[in-house]
Amino acid sequence: MARRKQIYEGKAKILYEGPEPGTMIQYFKDDATAGNGAKHAIIDGKGVLNNRISEFVMVGLEQIGIPTHFIRRLNMREQLIRQVEIVPLEVIVRNVAAGSLAKRYGLKDGEQLPRSIVEFCLKSDELGDPPVSEDMITAFNWASPQEMDDIMAYALRINDFLCGMFAGVGIRLVDFKVEFGRQYEGDMVRIVLADEISPDSCRLWDAATGESMDKDRFRKDLGGLTDAYREVARRLGIIRDNEETSDTMGPVLVSNNDED
Ligand SMILES: Nc1ncnc2c1ncn2[C@@H]1O[C@H](COP(=O)(O)OP(=O)(O)O)[C@@H](O)[C@H]1O
Ligand SMILES: [Mg+2]
Repeated sequence: MARRKQIYEGKAKILYEGPEPGTMIQYFKDDATAGNGAKHAIIDGKGVLNNRISEFVMVGLEQIGIPTHFIRRLNMREQLIRQVEIVPLEVIVRNVAAGSLAKRYGLKDGEQLPRSIVEFCLKSDELGDPPVSEDMITAFNWASPQEMDDIMAYALRINDFLCGMFAGVGIRLVDFKVEFGRQYEGDMVRIVLADEISPDSCRLWDAATGESMDKDRFRKDLGGLTDAYREVARRLGIIRDNEETSDTMGPVLVSNNDED
């Protein structure tokens, strides 16, 4: 097996150097964290499902003209992606009041918002991802006004696409978080969707029962996280009813080797 260099290990994924310059391999771990890492657990098979779901969503988004970092899935836990310079923002789109929005502004959980709302937080574990305004973002040069125009437009188009996709399988898209990056091509630079879109980064409620089918199951100790993610994948037609989505391929098999 080819040795590869680990570039970064985050809370839910590991990034390895890719086979060609400008590419990386994104490995999906089973780790679940909440409250900025305060709570942590290993949830069997989560990474496999997120890899598949994120692939499915990114391919769909490419088809409607949203540029993404996704190139192709390599195996159960890994996908080949384009390396980008991450814009240090968590871009949150909300359709229904829940989570921090409901708490912060005293809204009722589950209340439909008057329109979709885009919110920005600074991506900083140290600072606890504080909310930031567009004015602050451009003043501190986290992103330029032109980049913010692209990010805003893409975020809303992603929301429209996801709302329709999930509504079609009886799932209510409450909110989600995305990250964008800069892809340099010669002296051109463009904004592309990066990271992942999965039940780790979306709030998904069963349209019929209102049950959480996302990481809130972990945040709220409801259990059944893998089953819920499997159900999302099954409804979207990503996995078959009895398809195996657990594996024994730990990151140890693809671990960093400093001698390279
Ligand atoms: N295409 C990409 N190029 C470079 N970095 C990326 C790309 N896609 C995602 N990332 C970054 O890789 C990391 C993914 O691992 P994750 O476990 O989510 O980390 P974190 O704990 O920082 O959220 C994130 O920090 C994310 O910003
Ligand atoms: Mg992350």
